[in-house]
Amino acid sequence: MPIRQPKTQEQSALPPLDAPLILGIETSCDETAAAVSWGQYLLLSSVISSQIPLHRPYGGVVPELASRNHLTMLRPIVQDALAQAGHSLEDLDALAATLGPGLSSSLLTGATLAKSLAWTLGKPFLGVNHLEGHLLSPFEGHPEGVEPCVALVVSGGHTLLIEVRGFDDYHLLGRTHDDAAGEAFDKVAKMIGLPYPGGPEIDKRARHGDPRAFEFPRSMLDSQDLHFSFSGLKTSARYKLETLRKDHETLPEEIINDLCAGFQEAIVDVLSAKLVAACRQTGRHVAAVSGGVSLNSRLRRRLEKVCEENHIELLLAKPQLCTDNAGMICHAAAHALANDRITALDRDIDPNLGLTFRNV
Ligand code: KG4
Ligand code: ZN
Repeated sequence: MPIRQPKTQEQSALPPLDAPLILGIETSCDETAAAVSWGQYLLLSSVISSQIPLHRPYGGVVPELASRNHLTMLRPIVQDALAQAGHSLEDLDALAATLGPGLSSSLLTGATLAKSLAWTLGKPFLGVNHLEGHLLSPFEGHPEGVEPCVALVVSGGHTLLIEVRGFDDYHLLGRTHDDAAGEAFDKVAKMIGLPYPGGPEIDKRARHGDPRAFEFPRSMLDSQDLHFSFSGLKTSARYKLETLRKDHETLPEEIINDLCAGFQEAIVDVLSAKLVAACRQTGRHVAAVSGGVSLNSRLRRRLEKVCEENHIELLLAKPQLCTDNAGMICHAAAHALANDRITALDRDIDPNLGLTFRNV
């Protein structure tokens, strides 16, 4: 089955004339992002200010620094998103922001701004679940809307396999028992001494390494369920590094590259095998893959291969919608608006917000 290529703007059907103009804001962690979309149909702009250089010296996100930076960056980023879309605040039909999960002090900044604008302009507010933003992102720009599928959400905080029967009709198939896939990438990269965030660094290094040079465990690959575990893989990396450091004061580049390739291959093997198993188990023939880890080059290639072999239609989130962004927030908000799920202005942010599953 062919992989469905994302439509270019010219190929996309024109949005209906009454499609709402939505401003979306995302500040759940260390990215200040704003976007403007024409409902679920067309992303007009998407602007992201990354705080990676700010947090890099600390090897991870410092919440206090993140929220202060959001406060500085929100106004120019929102103005930029509106300017790139060719619209002003008065043109908007709805305002959206991430309500959770994430860092509470970061979530508060974006959600408070979006709610204040909604109140001032007298327009509806849509509080978006960040995970639903990722989950639905492979469908961005699809005039057909959300199709029944198996969704794999692989981010820094989550590894989820979900049967999607429609918008807000989600059935949990599997989740990680311990670390998320992105968390494992980041922690192992830190152990090796690679800069934060580790996922893209391991991806780059792995291109020059041999995935068979080191043996890494494929935890739960043979379990009959669709759950994941990545902590054993992390421990295996730690032991290997301890042994290697006894022989090398500084690890040679080739060894680092081989370690990255072997570790990444183990994650790719497990994610791709479980996705295919989930499609088989549910009888679904469409797979939608999203989240920061879905940007991984080896994972994308492998998913294309296994999906083709197993007659599964693969919808990969566009690269610009994989890591945190506000385009996916606009898109999820458009679906919520179309389903009359307007959020009350007194609804608070929730750092532990989860997805609601119909089977759990
Ligand atoms: O979706 P995301 O931006 O934030 C969360 O919602 O968590 O995902 C961030 C995660 C980080 O762990 C980062 O290392 C990982 O995505 N990531 C990657 C790649 N690009 C980002 N992991 C593997 N390979 C990549 N190319
Ligand atoms: Zn995310």
